[in-house]
Amino acid sequence: MSTSQRDIPAGPVIELKDVKVHHRARTGSLFRPNIVKAVNGVDFSISRGETVGIVGESGCGKSTLASVLVGLQAPTSGQVLFHGKPAIKRNARMRKEFGRAVSVVFQDPATALNPRMTIQDILSDPLQVHGIGNAASRSAKVKELLALVGLPQSAAEVTPSQVSGGQRQRVAIARALALDPDIIVADEPTSALDVSVRAQVLNLLSDLKTQLNLGMVFISHDIQTVRYVSDRICVMYFGQIVEEGPAAQVFDNPSNDYTKKLLGAAPSLLHT
Ligand SMILES: Nc1ncnc2c1ncn2[C@@H]1O[C@H](COP(=O)(O)OP(=O)(O)O)[C@@H](O)[C@H]1O
Ligand SMILES: [Mg+2]
Repeated sequence: MSTSQRDIPAGPVIELKDVKVHHRARTGSLFRPNIVKAVNGVDFSISRGETVGIVGESGCGKSTLASVLVGLQAPTSGQVLFHGKPAIKRNARMRKEFGRAVSVVFQDPATALNPRMTIQDILSDPLQVHGIGNAASRSAKVKELLALVGLPQSAAEVTPSQVSGGQRQRVAIARALALDPDIIVADEPTSALDVSVRAQVLNLLSDLKTQLNLGMVFISHDIQTVRYVSDRICVMYFGQIVEEGPAAQVFDNPSNDYTKKLLGAAPSLLHT
């Protein structure tokens, strides 16, 4: 695709420095609120060309971290840098550039995609919002995106409910690619899918990452799934990254007790 047409600055696309996201819990009183420390002091970076896996059990703060990475949530404290510049008080231009550069794939494509729009409209919508191209070039781009994610061209005319769950997630991935992003954050992208199609969607993400030289943040509660796709792994526990390293090192020689516990736990959800 057209990534080569842009100058790609070296170094991390996004960097988090000591990021905290604290929520007031519903329990507790007005004057003595209970604070949920969903993310509690995370340093993280993601560059093009690498897949970083984030693994940890449900509730450890993975989705909160993802929402900070994609700009949907401002941290309570800490810094978010976009190409080395603070991204908190973003101006309109930076917001737009951030929105183009960083895209997200959610767990459940059934709720992430507008059920009343055709797949054609779903895929051309980001281009329209960003004022890219004309009707003809957008329609050509939709064709290209469908081919890229392995969907037939005829899928353009139907709505998300008319295709299978695995195909719906391919549509969501195609939409995430519409603006030629630098980074894709995929939050449990296979957890809502039938076991039989999980490996295909993982393979697709992994192929696209290589083909397009994307940076990929791959989030899962299943350490085997993360291992399958990641170059580098971060293990999260109660809002913190308790272990980080090259995938092979984290697997073969985990230093943290919690990582060892995760590795010893449940067999892969990919294969059950
Ligand atoms: N808006 C919110 N208000 C209060 N608590 C929240 C909110 N969002 C998330 N949490 C809490 O923060 C913690 C981390 O949640 P989440 O990031 O969704 O974890 P994960 O994706 O790893 O399952 C959980 O305890 C969750 O209940
Ligand atoms: Mg989550």
